[in-house]
Amino acid sequence: MPLTIDVLTLFPRMLDGFLSESILGKGIAAGLLNVNVRDLRAWSTDKHRTADDRPFGGGAGMVLKPEPVFAAMEAVQTPGCRRIYLTPDGVPLSPTIAHRLSREQHLVFLSGHYEGIDQRIRDHIIDEEISIGDYVLTNGTLAAAVVIDALARFIPGVLGEEKSLTHESFTSKLLDFPQYTRPAEFRGMSVPEVLLSGNHAEIEKWRQARQEEKTRQVRPDLLN
Ligand code: ADE
Repeated sequence: MPLTIDVLTLFPRMLDGFLSESILGKGIAAGLLNVNVRDLRAWSTDKHRTADDRPFGGGAGMVLKPEPVFAAMEAVQTPGCRRIYLTPDGVPLSPTIAHRLSREQHLVFLSGHYEGIDQRIRDHIIDEEISIGDYVLTNGTLAAAVVIDALARFIPGVLGEEKSLTHESFTSKLLDFPQYTRPAEFRGMSVPEVLLSGNHAEIEKWRQARQEEKTRQVRPDLLN
């Protein structure tokens, strides 16, 4: 059975282009994963379809109410599914997390409200909290998209060539080497000679050296 993903969000249309384009769109069209986007407002019960309210104890901003989120979760969850809340105070996303999630049967992503959500949601109907980085987005919908994109790459068949997975940054803990394609000379800028040499051992050596150089410059923390 392919992985099924439900995304609970107040902004479902933010995912339209993301789900129909590119490699992910092809993977969905090929039935390698299913993604259902759910508008949380469909589960709000009052006539204004409100999903948020003022915080108890005072303070600025609005807080996502428990009722529509509990109702939505109860409608979509299945036994054994993993329920994930996207939040800047979650565990940082890593390739290890993305790989683990890609092997689940059913994931439910809850996209937060930038000002917060009622803690009872997090305490009772969330299994795991993930952050995509130390910056704050206006809501978690794009964060859900990032996690979906990162995990989809680990689903067999989604990337055309399996080998493109292993050759990339972070499986090796080094940043990538530079890539070039035709033409070998463009507006006076030429491709490094070694890449045209056909000498595979030399090419490997050159690429390794560029990876180490780049990592030292940009992400020295990865070298320790
Ligand atoms: N929602 C808002 N900012 C976020 C972040 N950095 N990661 C995950 N969810 C978020």
